[in-house]
Amino acid sequence: MAARVRKAVFPVAGLGTRFLPATKVMPKEMLTVVDRPLIQHVVEEARAAGIEQFIFVTGPNKSVIKEHFAQHPELEQVLAARGKTAELAELARSLLPPGSAHSVIQEEPLGLGHAVWCARELVGEEPFALLLPDVLVQTQGKNCLAQMLDIYDQHGANIIAVYPVPEDQVQSYGVVALGRRDGDVSRIDSLVEKPKPGTAPTNLAILGRYILQPEIFDFLLAHETGAGGEIQITDAMLALLKQQPFYAVQCEGRVFDCGSKAGFLAANIAYALDRPDLRDTVLAEIEKLT
Ligand code: G1P
Repeated sequence: MAARVRKAVFPVAGLGTRFLPATKVMPKEMLTVVDRPLIQHVVEEARAAGIEQFIFVTGPNKSVIKEHFAQHPELEQVLAARGKTAELAELARSLLPPGSAHSVIQEEPLGLGHAVWCARELVGEEPFALLLPDVLVQTQGKNCLAQMLDIYDQHGANIIAVYPVPEDQVQSYGVVALGRRDGDVSRIDSLVEKPKPGTAPTNLAILGRYILQPEIFDFLLAHETGAGGEIQITDAMLALLKQQPFYAVQCEGRVFDCGSKAGFLAANIAYALDRPDLRDTVLAEIEKLT
C-alpha cells in the first residue's frame, strides 16, 4: 500500500511582480478571492483532503502569511464581547491546529524547484503534496487534491494534475506528454517546462497540484537551472520519471490561473456566484455593467 500523504508544501516566496503595485508590501498569496486570501483557499483544499502538516516556503516580507493562520487573541476578544459569533466562526476557519504549520525561508528567488528543495528537511522521507497558491480549482464535489489522493491510493507513485489550455498559451506552463493508460489514468511519458512556441507535445498544462515521492529532492540537489534561468520542479520530475511512474490526472472542476489578472478576476466572480449570500446581488451588478 502506498505511504499516506500527510504533508503539503506551499511555495509562497514569489515576488508577485504581475500584480504590482498591489503586491508592493502585501504578498500576492494574500490577495483575496471574495473574502479569503488565495493561500487560505488552497490550505482549506489541503485540509479537506486530509493533510495534517502544512509547510510554507516563504520569502522576505511574508511573515503575514503565517500570522494569518495563527490566533489573533485581541480580535477574538473584541468579537466575543460584541457577540459576533458568525465572524468568530469565520475567523476560526483561518486557524491551523497548533503545531501543524511550519515555515522555512527561501533566501533567494531561484525558482519553484529551489523553493521545494528548501522544504526537504521538513518533508523528510515521505511522499508529500505540493500546491501552488496561484491556482484555484473550483469543484462541486471532492476537491482537486482529494481527487488526486484517490488516484494515489490506487496507484501510488507520483501524481500530477493537468488541464487543457489554449494552444497559444502552452508556453506559459509546464506541459506533459501522455503514454499508455493504466486503468483510469494515463502514465506521463515526458514533461517540458515552458516549451518554445510550436514545440509543445500536447496542450495539457501542469496545473499546480502535485503528489511527489521524496526522491524528487535527489534531483533538486544539483540546483541545475532550466527555463527562465530558474531551478524548475518540472526538470526534476523529468529526471525522476526515469526511475518512477508519474500519472496525469484531470481533476473535475474549473481551473483559475490567479497568477494572471484575468484569471484572478474571473475567480472572484465565479467564487462569488457560488455563494448563496452573494449570487443574486453579484449577478444583478454584472447585468448593470453589460
Ligand atoms: C509553475 C510551474 C509550471 C506550471 C505552473 C502552473 O510555473 O513551473 O509547470 O504549469 O506553475 O501555474 P509558474 O507559473 O511559476 O511560472
